[in-house]
Amino acid sequence: MEKIVALCKRRGFIFQSSEIYGGLNGAWDYGPLGVELKRNLKDYWWKCMTQVRDDIVGFDGSILMNRAVWKASGHEATFSDPMVECFLTKKRYRADQIEPQSGTAYYYKGITTSAKVPLPNVDMPFAVLVPKGKPEASAQKIAKQFYVARGFTESEIVSLDLEKTEPVENSTAFNPENGALLGEPKIFNLMLKTYVGAVESDDAITYLRPETAQAMFVQFKNVLDVSQKKLPFGIAQIGKAFRNEINPRNFTFRSREFEQMEVEFFVKPGTGPEWLDKWLEERLSWYEAIGIPRTKIHVLTVPEKDRAFYSQGTYDLEYEFPFGVQELEGIAHRGNYDLKQHQEASGKPLEYFDEEAKQKYLPEVVEPSAGVDRTVLALLCEAYDEETIKDEESGKEETRVVLRFTPRIAPIKAAIFPLLKNKPELVAIARDIYKSLQPLLKVTYADTAAIGRRYRRMDEVGTPFGITIDFETLEGVKEASTSATGTPVAAGQKETVTLRHRDSMKQERIAIADLPAYLLQAIA
Ligand code: GAP
Repeated sequence: MEKIVALCKRRGFIFQSSEIYGGLNGAWDYGPLGVELKRNLKDYWWKCMTQVRDDIVGFDGSILMNRAVWKASGHEATFSDPMVECFLTKKRYRADQIEPQSGTAYYYKGITTSAKVPLPNVDMPFAVLVPKGKPEASAQKIAKQFYVARGFTESEIVSLDLEKTEPVENSTAFNPENGALLGEPKIFNLMLKTYVGAVESDDAITYLRPETAQAMFVQFKNVLDVSQKKLPFGIAQIGKAFRNEINPRNFTFRSREFEQMEVEFFVKPGTGPEWLDKWLEERLSWYEAIGIPRTKIHVLTVPEKDRAFYSQGTYDLEYEFPFGVQELEGIAHRGNYDLKQHQEASGKPLEYFDEEAKQKYLPEVVEPSAGVDRTVLALLCEAYDEETIKDEESGKEETRVVLRFTPRIAPIKAAIFPLLKNKPELVAIARDIYKSLQPLLKVTYADTAAIGRRYRRMDEVGTPFGITIDFETLEGVKEASTSATGTPVAAGQKETVTLRHRDSMKQERIAIADLPAYLLQAIA
């Protein structure tokens, strides 16, 4: 993971937000290559959802919505995590993410102090868990820090008053980082509150949306009317969402500002479970098409007790990240929960009229909800590879870092290289090729450094094709071969270039005229 994070910064995929001011936890900026990768991913999702299917239409809702939306959706009351606070460091953790600990717990009822003036915190209880076999001294060290943080100097602490010692098995009441006792779980709302308008009053409160979904529910009727679709049909949206996560971590995996790609797919009552399974298959194939194999995705049927408050059934698609198997996308059967809530709260009918059945009803909803940033991270992790190779020029062994992105999502599709930058004939052809490809796809041009180094730099950012204009382009090829397109290249043929493949490093010739069609086909 460290290598991937370092590469992301070095080559301009992802930077820490506000870096020169020490950063902002949970926020990230995408650099020149990251933004291309992210855009390719979103464009491909958009195309798969709204262009090649007849049953989904696109949508782009506002981030700020009437607070009534969040009251009706249940987010204001229930979109929260139980949090526990460490008594020593005051750091907060998600209660459900505390690793169970075993060992010996030392419970102190306070301290005996040499301070003359009676002090308030001498009787404050505290406890520390130390692993089995460790002496009490380890617990005392942490306990002393606790009392020092409450206003005593170390020299004032004559002794710690031990109340009891207890063996503990699989307890989540202690901080795994330092053994200190944790507080009782408290509920913490994850929505980021803001004020709309000039006055910071209760009436002006709303939230930055924590999911893009709600705008699609409250606009269901409008979209249905204008698109004249029949059930089953869906609304697709890509956009920012915000959550005041307590523990943003694992690079961009858990951020406070992130993007979602969501479809709300409206279906006839009773058919939700069947559509949930169809969407599972659909989404697994989609990940394969962007280069994340099925074998790397674990499908978790989320147990009832762990499902979101609106869900009647959820599959989590989890990816094997270097830091563990973690959620990439959730596919939920939301029933008619959201439409019903909004219909009741707004007093506006949101029912669908089924012409065949001559019946009005609230559709059920199946929602595949993917995270853009998590998918970008999964793509980077999946693509990252290192191999030992012999340098083509020096013959020395070296490590080749390569991002094996599938061409359709690679940030740059091809790099154009004149073999030598001081040969105007080569440069002129290279510039011409570059200019002619630019309107069609994202390409780059590089003429500095030895050709091997230029290839390596492009491997490191995942550019699938290198196109080199060399002396055979000018003088004709030395040996006959079969070109990259499968057509023969005759000895002496001009107007061809070397096409180098990133993954195999194989080099073959291709006619300049064939380049646009070949590359477009490769990234399609
Ligand atoms: N509308 C349903 C919904 O929002 P979710 O499971 O809470 O469901 C869907 O979120 C997806 O959004 C997740 O699978 C994940 O990819 C992404 N996501 C959620 N919270 C995130 C966070 N803090 N940082 C990055 N991505 C996040």
